[in-house]
Amino acid sequence: IVERPTYLAAIQSFGMFEPQFLSVPLHHDGMDADALDRALSEHQVKLVYAVTNFQNPTGITYSSSKRQEIADVLKDRNVALIDDNPYSDLRFMGEEVAPMKAFLGDQAIMLGSFSKLVSPGFRLGWICAREEIMEKLIVAKQAADLHSSCFAQRVVHQYLVDNDINSHIEKIRAAYRRQRDTMVEAIEESFPAGVEHTRPEGGMFLWVTLPEGISSLELFGRAIKENVAFVPGQAFFANGGGENTMRLNFSNSDEERIVEGIARLGRAINSMMS
Ligand SMILES: Cc1ncc(COP(=O)(O)O)c(C=O)c1O
Repeated sequence: IVERPTYLAAIQSFGMFEPQFLSVPLHHDGMDADALDRALSEHQVKLVYAVTNFQNPTGITYSSSKRQEIADVLKDRNVALIDDNPYSDLRFMGEEVAPMKAFLGDQAIMLGSFSKLVSPGFRLGWICAREEIMEKLIVAKQAADLHSSCFAQRVVHQYLVDNDINSHIEKIRAAYRRQRDTMVEAIEESFPAGVEHTRPEGGMFLWVTLPEGISSLELFGRAIKENVAFVPGQAFFANGGGENTMRLNFSNSDEERIVEGIARLGRAINSMMS
């Protein structure tokens, strides 16, 4: 079971094993708990995968009450939840929420990463899971690549010894907040009525839903002529759909470029809608 939409690389990784994907709708406060319950009752499900903080691609974060509802649905079932959580340290507004492990205990497998805090190039992360799952994961990891690069691990270790990671996190949080605010303001100014967007409290992405019938793939073709790129949303749907959606990133460009980029995108959307 994955969210609808879900993280593209998770679709790709799971896809290698040719699973039957079941997509559960994602609302503003997390996965639809009733739909999750139904999917679990109607199918033999092995894994539930969720990005519960500042989700990639939507920027959505699960509320505390939603986490509790999902834990209640999963509790007595023989199924694990992967809580893929590389973004929780990047909260720049709102209240922190406890991870799924706090609601679900050992049934949750928690993933973390240095990719969003130190550098994506190292692709170093960690897993927190109960021992019998860790034993299997260690064998699977060895079969996949023997081990993560020792050199990369030493570089990150030394970085953490020599620097104050918390003050670095404060710095990027403040920058991402300004960039996010700039993008939200620019969208509200430049995009026509009928276009919806999320308002993330952290992370790197926000999600735009165009009016029904407007294809973000077609929009991409027009936007790229204006030198603006985004990720068409369709790629994040494991079972199809999302033709009128797109993911925008606010962490990579400075405020000036965000304003200009959104203005160009707004013109492209307007020209399609007329
Ligand atoms: C939800 C999610 N999980 C995992 C990753 C990748 O993490 P890592 O670089 O540690 O593989 C990303 C982004 O790159 C992501 O958005």
